[in-house]
Amino acid sequence: MLFSWKVFITLKRGGYMIQDKIVSLKDIEEKKRELTQKMEKQMRARLESSTYPLRALLSYYRSAMMEVETKFKVLDEQFSLSYDRNPIESISTRLKSIDQIYDKARRKGIPISLKSIEENIYDIAGVRVVCPFEKDIYMLRSSILNHDDVVLFEERDYIKNPKESGYRSLHLIIEVPIYLEEGKRQMKVEVQLRTMAMDQWASLEHRLMYKKDLPDDIAKDLRKKLLECAELNRKLDMIMQDIKDTTDLYLADD
Ligand code: GTP
Ligand code: MG
Repeated sequence: MLFSWKVFITLKRGGYMIQDKIVSLKDIEEKKRELTQKMEKQMRARLESSTYPLRALLSYYRSAMMEVETKFKVLDEQFSLSYDRNPIESISTRLKSIDQIYDKARRKGIPISLKSIEENIYDIAGVRVVCPFEKDIYMLRSSILNHDDVVLFEERDYIKNPKESGYRSLHLIIEVPIYLEEGKRQMKVEVQLRTMAMDQWASLEHRLMYKKDLPDDIAKDLRKKLLECAELNRKLDMIMQDIKDTTDLYLADD
């Protein structure tokens, strides 16, 4: 398809001449594509340079998370060699996304700056360690805190003091060093240690209650039932630990 495009050109002697130029739609489409690509490239470069510091910080957290995961894996390996049993059933890791970090900063009223995010949000990097028995949790706690490059920053024992919801786990915020080109950097990692029963409860409770807009009376009833489940799980852990202790005693006498 062809159409007419009026172009103004300046002549040497001054004045303007209007020239009718015939341009094809294909040429215009081509020009449009070129310009769009150029603009997208510029925007991407601008975005990348503005988010680079945050992406770098996230990569430091990812490295610290890997360090902590490896530490637990090594402990599991050593324990398995010495006692022919694994104190870790599973390990999982998760890194908060940029959106989740901004959401949390907004919820907590933290200024959106790298410094304040690093100083106030402790669970950007998370490592979850699931153990067969409750005593494994405390054994792993002392073992990891014995590492001379691990510093305990904060501890919340929701096993000894369960949350109102019934949630139980041992939470540690630890600091570990990572080594960058420019030197050493201490990073915080949240570690959640749980038994399999605690993990089962927390996963199901989260799935059942998270962001569910239930009527108040129903929500209250469900919370009560979940609390009862938490109590059953606590008893389950106690009995399992008791069985384990008894079999250990029997094996020790053997
Ligand atoms: P967050 O802003 O959620 O991180 O809370 P917080 O900084 O006050 O820390 P807290 O120790 O209360 O809990 C941190 C994490 O523990 C949560 O992100 C969950 O993974 C877990 N958690 C805490 N309470 C509950 C609960 O009632 N149910 C479940 N399923 N998980 C919980
Ligand atoms: Mg959290």
